[in-house]
Amino acid sequence: MFSAVYSAGITGVEGFPVTVECNLRDKLQGFELVGLPDLAVREAKERVWTACSNSGFPFPFGHISVNLAPADRKKEGTAFDAAILTGILQVGGVIPKNLDLSGKCFIGELSLSGDWRSVRGVLCMVVAAKEAGFREVYVPADNAAEAAAVEGIDVYAIPNMRALVKHLTGQERLMPHTPAKNFSELPAVYANDFSDVRGQALAKRAMEIAAAGGHNILLIGPPGTGKSMLAKRLPTILPPLTFSEAIETTKIHSVAGTLPTGVSLLNIRPFRSPHHTMSAVSLVGGGVNPMPGEVSLAHNGVLFLDELPEFPKQVTDSLRQPLEDRRVTITRANGRVTFPCSFMLVAAMNPCRCGYFGHPTRPCTCKPADVKRYINNISGPMLDRIDIQIELPSLSFSEISSKNAAAETSEVIRGRVIAARQFARERMASRPDLFCNAQMDPAAMREFCTVSPSASSLLNAAYDKLGLSARGYDRILRVARTIADLQESRLIEEMHVAEAIQLRSLDRKYWE
Ligand SMILES: Nc1ncnc2c1ncn2[C@@H]1O[C@H](COP(=O)(O)OP(=O)(O)O)[C@@H](O)[C@H]1O
Ligand SMILES: [Mg+2]
Repeated sequence: MFSAVYSAGITGVEGFPVTVECNLRDKLQGFELVGLPDLAVREAKERVWTACSNSGFPFPFGHISVNLAPADRKKEGTAFDAAILTGILQVGGVIPKNLDLSGKCFIGELSLSGDWRSVRGVLCMVVAAKEAGFREVYVPADNAAEAAAVEGIDVYAIPNMRALVKHLTGQERLMPHTPAKNFSELPAVYANDFSDVRGQALAKRAMEIAAAGGHNILLIGPPGTGKSMLAKRLPTILPPLTFSEAIETTKIHSVAGTLPTGVSLLNIRPFRSPHHTMSAVSLVGGGVNPMPGEVSLAHNGVLFLDELPEFPKQVTDSLRQPLEDRRVTITRANGRVTFPCSFMLVAAMNPCRCGYFGHPTRPCTCKPADVKRYINNISGPMLDRIDIQIELPSLSFSEISSKNAAAETSEVIRGRVIAARQFARERMASRPDLFCNAQMDPAAMREFCTVSPSASSLLNAAYDKLGLSARGYDRILRVARTIADLQESRLIEEMHVAEAIQLRSLDRKYWE
């Protein structure tokens, strides 16, 4: 007796359909599982056997072989349990042998009592099941909201094996799980707002420019000036997530198991703030069964590195490739896994170890050589990837005590950011691979960064006077392009260049 039941596996963030073939032979009692299973899959035998008897179903007598096809792809984790037991129940006759299970995809781990337990990566698997033509997907109740984010496939939330058998045999039909709301109806609710930040007009303007062009930004200033506040609020002024961005980002969180129960789709951009004690693997991803790192959890959102000089050099160096490629590829003996990681980097730092170098009233207790050493902890290649650097002064008493009534809300700033990005996209229509100015390569810069004669001579003077490198020059031009976009100006004018130079003042002060 033979049956085929369907499930789904996962490599990186991409799901793939898996056929669970189950064969029962009239032989000595036995149970075999083949098809490149990892340890967790091999242990399914024990869970499946116990769940079967604890659900009150007879385990078929004879020799059972289970093959997970395609047999040449590695199968990881516990999500095949439910499909394996379903197949066994069919060859054993608990589920009628003539019942057609094609078109149905079963995803779930089994507890020893036969309950369906949630698994990681359900969204990725359901996306793949739908693409492979499945019409129904059966998932643990805790994963139902996530699965229902995929349109065009019926989702059944399964509490346990008994309920599944009753449903399949028509004794007690379950209703498909309907999402509470469509993506377009989910309100993007932010926990904080730009209007909370007092003073710091220059830094706020720099954050707006960074958001408009997708530029990485470094905030430097003494403690308590609002660096962390500003960083946390960057997602609130970025354009809202599109549906496909939301799916991409949610898939990563689904695989990592960081999606809160009951959440169908992340609908605000992620903000990740890894501590400087974090390992390079946790930051960029990896491990024996490769998992996404913080850079991928920040995909389509913001990665905030607070106290940048405290990060070990080896850790910041590991960020260079992800920043460049916008994806992380992890190579293992059994193949390669790729996780996307397109994020905006916000870094913050004190100007020195004590934090008060250059402070107007508080004395700095660091030796001058130590100040320099602290700053030099940040590698040149890292700084090369940060287009904007801005200094935050300490707040004056009048700024702290002011009512702040005139402060703009995130919504107002976001409106300008969206308009600027739209203006840039129309200009760069011939290069659909570029979705923000920060991504412009030298060819794109030559094509899209037209400067007025006076802007050109200002750039020229800056190049000579500041001793800029070619890269430094490019960064100023890219940021000037974004400043011009915020004014919807086709030409980069002198004032745009002047402001862009201002956003690099730290280069001169600290490094050059
Ligand atoms: N510009 C500011 N506007 C309003 N509150 C501020 C500002 N800067 C600092 N604060 C207050 O000080 C606290 C610490 O600010 P934070 O952003 O963590 O400073 P930093 O990261 O620069 O050390 C904030 O929670 C806030 O209450
Ligand atoms: Mg801080």
